[in-house]
Amino acid sequence: MPKTAAKAKRSLKPKEIVEPAIARVPITVRVNGRPYSLAVEPRILLVELLREALDLTGTHVGCDTTYCGACTVLLNGASVKSCTIFAVQADGAEITTVEGLEKDGQLGSIQKVFGDCYALQCGYCTPGLMLSTYQLLSHNQQPGDKDIRKAIAGNTCRCTGYQNIFKAIQVAARSVKGG
Ligand code: FES
Ligand code: FES
Repeated sequence: MPKTAAKAKRSLKPKEIVEPAIARVPITVRVNGRPYSLAVEPRILLVELLREALDLTGTHVGCDTTYCGACTVLLNGASVKSCTIFAVQADGAEITTVEGLEKDGQLGSIQKVFGDCYALQCGYCTPGLMLSTYQLLSHNQQPGDKDIRKAIAGNTCRCTGYQNIFKAIQVAARSVKGG
């Protein structure tokens, strides 16, 4: 290619887009009992913070629109959809993810019961369901069918048909009650 043509071609390239730097905001959170101090961009979602900054990938992203519940975590003891909350809104909060349900490196009782009852197939929804179960049993150790339905109403499972999930929650409730 002649030199002038090559030069013209180069000049047709789109200009490189340089995004302006976004100021980061310092936050502190306690996740699964462990304290963290971080500086995050205000646009970062809580689920991104957990998965990407803290490597807690047990919290899943399904819909990203507050529908499926795959991203459920506990924020100061209340279940929330972490795709709907900015990380900066969690400043100062206590967060529990599915990894926090373990006990001494072993599966915690809710995690074990879900396995024992075959309450999962692909497992994508499972962390969120286990946290919704944990929240339910934290304040109601004798949940009726209606309570269980209400507690997991925000968690969608596309595989199981819910029967075994329901059974797992009933078994977990009995084991919590029995100590
Ligand atoms: S990914 Fe958050 S509700 Fe679906
Ligand atoms: S086990 Fe597959 S979505 Fe629930």
